[in-house]
Amino acid sequence: MSTKISKIGILTSGGDAPGMNAAIRAVVRTGLFHGLEVYGIMRGYQGLIEDEISVLNSRSVANIIQRGGTILKTARCKDFFEYEGRKKAYENLKKRGIGGLVVIGGDGSFRGAAQFAKEFKISCIGIAGTIDKDIQGTDYTIGFDTAVNTAVEAIDKVRDTMEAHDRIFIIEVMGRDAGYIALHSGIATGAENILIPEIKTNIDDIATSLQKKGKRKKLVNLIVVAEGDDFGGAEEIQKILIKKLPKAEIRVCILGHIQRGGAPSCLDRLIASRMGYYAIQCFLEGRKNVFVGIHNDKMNYTPLESAIKSKGHICDEWLKIVKVLAS
Ligand code: F6P
Repeated sequence: MSTKISKIGILTSGGDAPGMNAAIRAVVRTGLFHGLEVYGIMRGYQGLIEDEISVLNSRSVANIIQRGGTILKTARCKDFFEYEGRKKAYENLKKRGIGGLVVIGGDGSFRGAAQFAKEFKISCIGIAGTIDKDIQGTDYTIGFDTAVNTAVEAIDKVRDTMEAHDRIFIIEVMGRDAGYIALHSGIATGAENILIPEIKTNIDDIATSLQKKGKRKKLVNLIVVAEGDDFGGAEEIQKILIKKLPKAEIRVCILGHIQRGGAPSCLDRLIASRMGYYAIQCFLEGRKNVFVGIHNDKMNYTPLESAIKSKGHICDEWLKIVKVLAS
């Protein structure tokens, strides 16, 4: 083994995402396979600062590949923004001789890790895990596929009642300030309108198209809106549409955190397993301070410090498809 790192820690940080457990399992089992000692850190950077760290063995990660959430728990940790917090975190690693840290999370967690690695003698490797799929440098993030499938299943159910009542439904999905969950779930459920932060929302156009469709007796009208849409969430849009279409029955459904839970899909388990495996290869090959992603079905390594949100990269072709298929 070409690396001097013999002990590593692993944590999950930020919003949990289905498939994080599969990634933990892959990191632990691959690390043990190569003779590393692996420590689990509870509650993300918070547990690192508060010294909630214990040794993991192969059995610690048994029977978790199919479970949502994260066995290590997670947190959004304000103390890690402060140098003092990071110093405490480092001392807790140092006293155990831990030289490498695997961080499963999103771009914010990666930038925290980059800062940490700059200040202290610690090598950090990220694994892209967020339902939002909003990180540049990877085509997949762990949890996105499951979240979209959960949204699709829920939207299909709403469609039944929507159709039965000839109503308009505005369904809000997560994604923070990215529209990928909305775009994917909207296309897959045949939504007439998909509102995403990357594209300016024109509410007058939407009202006009609903009126036209009403005249044509197109009874089902489904609007999927990303929570970060520039016009506001589903409730804001409902208020405006009610004024413009007083005769229409317009209901709102906010899917919320159900999108974060549940058993990970096959795809999420696969990418989590691959990314976890390659995170350990990074330590073995002496790669430092990068996060592991997948691009064009190949592993892709991006420096943690340049982890940025992928915004505004929505493919035009997809938007054209939405328009044509909803006509
Ligand atoms: O980043 C994942 C995510 O679920 C976003 O889609 C959402 O905006 C946010 O986290 C919600 O955060 P919290 O669970 O802290 O309310």
